[in-house]
Amino acid sequence: MFIVILSAEHPKLAKAEVQSLFPFASFSKNLAFVSTSKHIPRLASAKAAYKLLFKTTVSNLNKSVAAYNWQQHYKKSFSVTYLDPKQRISKEKQLAAIIHSSLRNPNVSLTNPTTQFTFIQNKNTVYATIPLKIPNPNYATRFPHKQPGFKPISLKPRLARLLVNLTGSTTSIYDPMCGIGGFLIEAGLMKLDVKGNDINKHAITATKKNLAKYKIKATLTNADAFSLKRKHPYLITDIPYGRNTAPVSKEFINNVLNHIATTVTKRAVIILPSTAKYSLPKKLALEGNFTYYIHKSLSKRILIVRIK
Ligand SMILES: C[S@@+](CC[C@H](N)C(=O)[O-])C[C@H]1O[C@@H](n2cnc3c(N)ncnc32)[C@H](O)[C@@H]1O
Repeated sequence: MFIVILSAEHPKLAKAEVQSLFPFASFSKNLAFVSTSKHIPRLASAKAAYKLLFKTTVSNLNKSVAAYNWQQHYKKSFSVTYLDPKQRISKEKQLAAIIHSSLRNPNVSLTNPTTQFTFIQNKNTVYATIPLKIPNPNYATRFPHKQPGFKPISLKPRLARLLVNLTGSTTSIYDPMCGIGGFLIEAGLMKLDVKGNDINKHAITATKKNLAKYKIKATLTNADAFSLKRKHPYLITDIPYGRNTAPVSKEFINNVLNHIATTVTKRAVIILPSTAKYSLPKKLALEGNFTYYIHKSLSKRILIVRIK
């Protein structure tokens, strides 16, 4: 069992992201409980993740810690972290002393421990864990304005990654209106097979440059998306919102939704201006509907749809 601490920025989207990749996840407050660590490094809303060693209650904590075999995880040095700000220092000292007395030749290192035993308190339950090492996702280095092909149409990389994950795809992704490739970059970095299309040839040139920067191979086409009939299991798209954020027509949005209903075989994520009107085709089941604030004149609606 693994525990993920979720970002508090948008709790509903964070939960939906986890559920899309871990259908059997359970949740309590900002903690997600999942049975495998496989997709954890992908999660845009994960603040930290841990392998569960055992769980106990607050009142049984000292007894459970004394009974546990810590030696099996200990390497060169250790430290203890207790994630409950109110009790941190006293509990850490107390638990470190118990663990220390159970180890052979123990070394404590507060600055660079090889094993950082971490206790997470959630209500009356305490989880004894070891942190997972997750590679730094380096979102700041991928902001749209830092890309070689830049147009101010792309969402920030952490949000783009979260939205790709909402499709639940572990195989491939298609963006029929890929712009400068914000979703394709994140999907490619997560080792999904990426396919994109845009009606604007300059957008495709920019996407090629941006993907080349990350050595991501993609299939790209330059066509009106509605003329393409090829089927795709998973689709994501952020539809154009018009010049100076002028409202995009209901007819255009319905064309996108009908296109999804006829070309997608599993799941799709569609991002619209939050005020946009639309009618969902009968073939699409709505699995999620969120509002995300971008700036004071633009909020986005995020729809997750499944093909019935
Ligand atoms: C909001 S931008 C997409 C931004 C993209 N997610 C990114 O990260 O850069 C919408 C894109 O839709 C494209 N577009 C508009 N109508 C289209 C159509 N009928 N077929 C294909 N692309 C279209 C525009 O050229 C524009 O690049």
